[in-house]
Amino acid sequence: MRISKRFELIGHRGAMAHAPENTLVSFQRAIDMGATMVELDVHLTRDGELVVIHDHELARTTTGSGLVEDMTLAEIRRFDAGIGIHADFRGQKVPTLQEVLEITSHHVALNIEIKAGRQTYPKIIDKLLDIIYQYDARNEIVISSFHRAYLREIRQEDAGIEVALLYSEAVPGILDEAIQEGWQGLHPWYKLVDRELLNEAHRLGLSVRAWTVNQLPDMVSLIRLGTDGICTNFPDILKSVVTELGID
Ligand code: G3P
Ligand code: CA
Repeated sequence: MRISKRFELIGHRGAMAHAPENTLVSFQRAIDMGATMVELDVHLTRDGELVVIHDHELARTTTGSGLVEDMTLAEIRRFDAGIGIHADFRGQKVPTLQEVLEITSHHVALNIEIKAGRQTYPKIIDKLLDIIYQYDARNEIVISSFHRAYLREIRQEDAGIEVALLYSEAVPGILDEAIQEGWQGLHPWYKLVDRELLNEAHRLGLSVRAWTVNQLPDMVSLIRLGTDGICTNFPDILKSVVTELGID
């Protein structure tokens, strides 16, 4: 399955309005609700494992505390990541990227966002590529980051994997930069998406996927403009919009 020019219904951290973010149950829920792509965030543990968690520290989303980069995978797995939504979710662990790929691989596409710890992780790209190769998942993954250096390293290591820049404020000259850097996509905050950006990006062969869109009218407007994907906490609502507009 190659990520195509189809519209991507992207579950943000799974289906985070319905299940604890970045947990296996959240990813499964997004898929069940009709997501064609699942978005997640990765950090590197002290013993070099890729774990799926948004923050570089544990306190907000687990029963633990401390920095991911200071802890081993085994230490992190002692904590409960199933907090915050409903007691039924208790017992979820911080997943490894491999565990998520067991669910998504050859089934739905994956948007892997590479985060940073105290600083960007020097060895994260090698580990990430190893896992992608292990699951034969090169063609069903887009790697995104706010950190340009990660995208550049991936392009140097394997130009066949899609990369996209995340950004939250207007970036002058971003289309020229995208072509120069060899990015295949742009992942802007949704209020930065307009017809001009989409027209120019599409003329250059770039995909534009917007985040994080949780209101139905915004979903409708962005789809009508021609946005290539929408990342949402509510894959169920986006699915109903996509069905109503007849683009699924
Ligand atoms: O995919 C876009 C979005 O995930 C970026 O922001 O903070 O939710 O990781 P954040
Ligand atoms: Ca993210």
